[in-house]
Amino acid sequence: QAGLNDLAVRAGLKYFGTALGESAVNSDATYASIISDKSEFGQLVPENGQKWDSTEPSQGQFNYASGDITANKAKANGQLMRCHALIWHSQLPSWVSSPTWTKEALTAVMQSHINNVMGHYKGQCYAWDVINEAVNDDGNWRDSVYLRTFSTDYFPLSFKLAKAADPNTKLYYNDYNLEYNGAKTDRAVELVKIIQAAGAPIDGVGFQGHLIVGGTPGRSSLATALKRFTALGVEVAYTELDIRHSSLPASASAQVTQGNDYANVVGSCLDTAGCVGVTVWGFSDKYSWVPSTFSGAGDALIYDKDFNKKAAWTSVSSVL
Ligand code: XIL
Repeated sequence: QAGLNDLAVRAGLKYFGTALGESAVNSDATYASIISDKSEFGQLVPENGQKWDSTEPSQGQFNYASGDITANKAKANGQLMRCHALIWHSQLPSWVSSPTWTKEALTAVMQSHINNVMGHYKGQCYAWDVINEAVNDDGNWRDSVYLRTFSTDYFPLSFKLAKAADPNTKLYYNDYNLEYNGAKTDRAVELVKIIQAAGAPIDGVGFQGHLIVGGTPGRSSLATALKRFTALGVEVAYTELDIRHSSLPASASAQVTQGNDYANVVGSCLDTAGCVGVTVWGFSDKYSWVPSTFSGAGDALIYDKDFNKKAAWTSVSSVL
């Protein structure tokens, strides 16, 4: 049976990948062996290890132990790495988020963080999520220390700092619920235009793809949303795909619907010139952020808790 990455590459994508759970990989040999199979996953992204609270928990104290778990695996297995995430309101230590900064002082903090973290992983990242989740679901700019300090000027600023730190990685904006092509998608399009109009470099937009079984848009609607960004000259990718059942246990028909939803997402990437790959946010229902975040929901991934391939896995393999 061909692996999903092999199938994806044959279908013209650059990769099919997964997030790597830093504690799971160190404690579960089955998990570790599946994630190391490049024919299945050609790309890894650290689930938490490169976030600000992990890499610079206090000012100027850099720690790469957790991020390096993924970097070392990817290197050992010959897998690409997506790197995630630099400028984000969440998992941001309070020494950054709490003070009222001047523009000059916060710029220096961002520059030091970006230079150090991107410098450490230089040459190892296919892409970096430079800004994560800057738009609210209602289409307003998301409140954060960055927005309060700079208004929207932090968009081009972040991408310019990232380009200076590592000129050879793809620089992405990454967000969720862009798939529905509503007010949030409109605003993300505007964000890309603001960055471009300021003469700053942006190479890609990541669709996180945290979706719901039965509530996932169809293949052509999804492709329409992706193409709004490729029309601006940037590439796109699904960066954190999972499709959760809203209630458990999932019925047999809900499992089929989940598979169809997965196939539509992957299919929409195939239908979009400039969609480079698909990354699932974990692969086994044994380890997923979903149950602890969305009450009552779960079983959002493509392998079950015993590492058996689900109907969703078969659907993905069939569409590729
Ligand atoms: C999640 C991780 O999966 C969890 O382990 C962590 O506790 C919180 O963050 N959007 C993102 C990811 O960009 O970084 C988030 O990951 C999920 C939502």
